[in-house]
Amino acid sequence: MAFDVETVRKDFPILSREVHGVPLVYLDSANSAQKPQVVIDAEADLYANHYANVARAVHTLGSEVTHAYEGARDKVAAFLNAPSRDEIIFTRNITEALNLLAYSLSNASTTIGADRFRIGPGDEIVVTEMEHHSNIVPWQLLAQRTGATFRWIPIDDEGRLVESAIDEVINERTKVVSFVYQSNALGTINPVRRIVERARAVGAISIVDAAQAAPHLPLDVQDLGADFVAFTGHKLYGPTGVGVLWGRYDLLAQLPPFLGGGEMIETVDMSGSTFAAPPHRFEAGTPMIAQAVALGTAVDYVTAIGMHEIREHEKALTAYALDGLQSIDGLRIIGPATPVDRGATISFTLPGIHPHDVAQLLDEEGIAVRAGHHCARPVCVRYGIPATTRASFGVYTTTDEIDALVRGVDKVKEMFTR
Ligand code: ALA
Repeated sequence: MAFDVETVRKDFPILSREVHGVPLVYLDSANSAQKPQVVIDAEADLYANHYANVARAVHTLGSEVTHAYEGARDKVAAFLNAPSRDEIIFTRNITEALNLLAYSLSNASTTIGADRFRIGPGDEIVVTEMEHHSNIVPWQLLAQRTGATFRWIPIDDEGRLVESAIDEVINERTKVVSFVYQSNALGTINPVRRIVERARAVGAISIVDAAQAAPHLPLDVQDLGADFVAFTGHKLYGPTGVGVLWGRYDLLAQLPPFLGGGEMIETVDMSGSTFAAPPHRFEAGTPMIAQAVALGTAVDYVTAIGMHEIREHEKALTAYALDGLQSIDGLRIIGPATPVDRGATISFTLPGIHPHDVAQLLDEEGIAVRAGHHCARPVCVRYGIPATTRASFGVYTTTDEIDALVRGVDKVKEMFTR
């Protein structure tokens, strides 16, 4: 079926509400996306009709809920084109997925058979200057715990990685390269395969933060070639409280656990424990059952629309919005100013007006945008600004909403220049 944004919008109950007496214009999907009714219903249905704990009970409800939870794993595996469902680990969010890796890697230094992952003084951990804090801080902490050196690939004036730095920063000392697919602060889409190939050439592990890519681009882990890919559910029109870590099975099978507890073990006695095979080794305790099931429904939802269709819709919106915003005198786009290799997230500044004031005044017009450093503070430092105002689009965004944004920003500017 052809993509029709008005049909899509009917699936999202919140989009028909008003804010300050005017229709809501929700342009903060990079922060968190709204939920279609099917996702809201999936979570409620699980609690109302099938709820019990997973993998612990032989009764009917226990079996139904385990089937639903493991079914969500199958759906996510298909969504990512993962070779095996056992490569899908449910986490609380992407922050937890990245921390899981960072802690498992440092636990490797005391685990027999995990030499491949040992990190210590003289080794290097590489990120980029455009990372979200969740892909900076865990690696800084890992560097502190192990004595490794923390390094990064810089960004240029346009908001892209400095291509010539990739081969220098990723070198034979590099053990881990963890980088963002699509920047949440700049909208930049990075050359994933190029970076992954370089990481592989030097024997480093590659990790892709796909939080802002998963809702907007077709994601195929086999095609990307990385060792690990993570995303979060709530940006993919799914519930909060659930994220996903995908990893190559042979690597997951060698990685020591992060959290210890129930259901992640093979056997426990007072002299020690052995651990379950992936994915359960990395899912200690009662998981986020209803959220994972509803994430499976969100995956079904976007798959039915088509990730290619979503990408094309958002590409057109991005080009339209870049044109409209750049027609405003003095407005500066922070990030790529053309639609090439960029996603539907646009950060900007206005001379002499604080980004928070812009966001506050837009809210009075019913327009929801985010202002701040977007948990990617090094990006603001790089461009010598305290913050940006950021508009981000999703499957339900319309050109009328972008017109409202451009009118709103124009009005804010007028108010401040009066
Ligand atoms: N929620 C964060 C953002 O707004 C990641 O980009």
